[in-house]
Amino acid sequence: MSNLTVFEHPLIQHKLSIIRNKEVGTKEFREIVDEIASLMAYEVTRDLPMTEVTIETPVATTEKKTLAGKKLAIVPILRAGLGMVDGIMKLIPAARIGHIGMYRDEETLEPVEYFVKLPDDIDQREVLLVDPMLATGGSADMAIDALKKRGANKIKLITLVSAPEGVAAVQKAHPDVDIFTASVDDYLNEDGYIVPGLGDAGDRLFGTH
Ligand code: PRP
Ligand code: URA
Repeated sequence: MSNLTVFEHPLIQHKLSIIRNKEVGTKEFREIVDEIASLMAYEVTRDLPMTEVTIETPVATTEKKTLAGKKLAIVPILRAGLGMVDGIMKLIPAARIGHIGMYRDEETLEPVEYFVKLPDDIDQREVLLVDPMLATGGSADMAIDALKKRGANKIKLITLVSAPEGVAAVQKAHPDVDIFTASVDDYLNEDGYIVPGLGDAGDRLFGTH
């Protein structure tokens, strides 16, 4: 079974509670998703490999640690995943960005893939797959399949709000993928919305319906 990490950090929980409020408008929603994404990126990158380098400080020569140069790719699931990209890039500015376009058919709730563009060397990169919402898990499952089909072999899924059903689905289909989320909510309603959730993340980020 894949590892599930729920971030209990007070800043993440506080900011998530703010954007759950239906009265919060697009500007504030977008800004806070960006902030939460940065905080989550800090936690998700805790295990990045490091290497020793020699540094000449103004005072002495010393051996200190630096990132091992392992390559990363940030891959948002369009559209809503785009809202998390800038926040992560603030911490990892050299990461490559891939895109996976996917939407849920509103009747069947089945995901429909419409676009995939990834770095050529995706097989050599750790992938941070980002989407604010993990509901049935269908979109994440299909996006992970698309990544694996193109050679990705180290994938972390980062979401803001997850349904227990979506977590279970991804854990079952992709036991090798670690899931990081700010909340596992109560359940999915009959329309496929996470309860209590925060509504339609894409619509709230982009101000559309
Ligand atoms: C939302 C969300 C996820 C998906 C989650 O996207 O951003 O991608 O639904 O649902 P699932 O786990 O049941 O697949 P949506 O289909 O609304 O598209 P959008 O991002 O373009 O708004
Ligand atoms: N997608 C969303 O944006 N919100 C939900 O609650 C479920 C799927």
